[in-house]
Amino acid sequence: MADRKLKVGLIGLGNMGSSHARDLTDMENVELVGVCDLKKELADQFAASCCTTAYYDYKDLFARSGLEAVVIAVPHFDHTPIAIEAMGLGIHVMCEKPVSVHVNDAKKMDAAYAAAKEKFPGLVYGLMFMERTYPNYLKIKDILETGELGRLVRATWINTAWFRSQAYYNSGGWRATWAGEGGGILTNQCPHNLDMYQWLFGLPEKVSGFAHLGKYHDIEVEDEVTGYFEHANGMVGHFIVSTAETPGTNRLEIVGENGRLIYENGKITLNRNRMSMFKFLKETKESFGNVESWYTEVPSRPNIAGPHRVVLERFAAAILGHGTLIAEGHEGLNSVMLANAIMLSSHMGQGVRLPLDGDEYEAILKDRARTSRFVKTIGESVSDMSKSFGK
Ligand SMILES: NC(=O)c1ccc[n+]([C@@H]2O[C@H](COP(=O)([O-])OP(=O)(O)OC[C@H]3O[C@@H](n4cnc5c(N)ncnc54)[C@H](O)[C@@H]3O)[C@@H](O)[C@H]2O)c1
Repeated sequence: MADRKLKVGLIGLGNMGSSHARDLTDMENVELVGVCDLKKELADQFAASCCTTAYYDYKDLFARSGLEAVVIAVPHFDHTPIAIEAMGLGIHVMCEKPVSVHVNDAKKMDAAYAAAKEKFPGLVYGLMFMERTYPNYLKIKDILETGELGRLVRATWINTAWFRSQAYYNSGGWRATWAGEGGGILTNQCPHNLDMYQWLFGLPEKVSGFAHLGKYHDIEVEDEVTGYFEHANGMVGHFIVSTAETPGTNRLEIVGENGRLIYENGKITLNRNRMSMFKFLKETKESFGNVESWYTEVPSRPNIAGPHRVVLERFAAAILGHGTLIAEGHEGLNSVMLANAIMLSSHMGQGVRLPLDGDEYEAILKDRARTSRFVKTIGESVSDMSKSFGK
């Protein structure tokens, strides 16, 4: 039940922001007190359809709308200055993914939040990691946390279900450029998968990356990537992604001593070993045998409709004092660190240890933007965003 309405402002009314505008207008405990976009026409159009006020500069939105909370849905580089300014004013923040383009910016946001909390102890800072609400991922997390698989050996995630055409990349001047976006598939599509990886397995201690820049598309950033992760507990991870493959694959394979879990085509299957494979490999007298293993299909509910809305609802509830966030702001650093580490490793031709040297990666990124000679073709903007979300 809505006890009172939270006054929320929305910045960025493009593909993602337009969907947030619909959700925020529809939520019973939210009053959308202002929408903001640099494009005046767009802001006016949304203000009219959402019965709210248009702003063309986020500073005006902050100063004049009376908002208590803001949803930030602008291109990634602007997440950092806008969020930091909001926090300093005591405005609760829901930021789109990736929290930032590079580690240094994510750390600045965390520091700003910590500083702002001194003055505004109830300040809330959340992230739009809506894939954490997907029942299948929740089920996988539950299985891992109960320790059913025993010691984990390997996680291999092939996610090439992020197909993007050249028309998509041409649909915005900032997209797929070093200066405008700061990266490709790892920065735009895969923050969800990288967040999921670290949510399920934690951060590795060493990352090796192989990133191909503009291999299949006329872009200057990465469109095909393989990451190899080495964890302190011995587990290894493979992260294989592309925006060029169609049909694409989304297959997560997790191997533990007690069995193998596979998530593919929206279904989780599990082979349970009757004894630990480590015990079996030491004790069996057979040279080529396999441990006895039972096959199970794990029941799970389908994905809920409107996962972004769930994240927004939980954000509002956390501020109004009767709920918790889906993802807290400080959790955004890990996925950014993984993305940056893959790119840094690929650039240097050697593995990198975490935590990553943020200065080194930021310097490379700035250099790439400064020396870019890429000429961007700009085409039509994207009109239907619903097909873009993770499969
Ligand atoms: N969670 C998800 O499923 C999901 C899906 C798509 C995009 N996103 C994220 O949302 C963000 C926006 O992506 P998009 O695809 O909507 O981009 P977009 O280009 O379609 O829209 C961005 C909008 O922000 C406006 N803008 C840019 N800078 C601004 C500023 N400083 N102040 C006010 N308005 C500004 C632009 O004019 C544009 O209308 C990105 O960070 C992206 O990663 C998240």
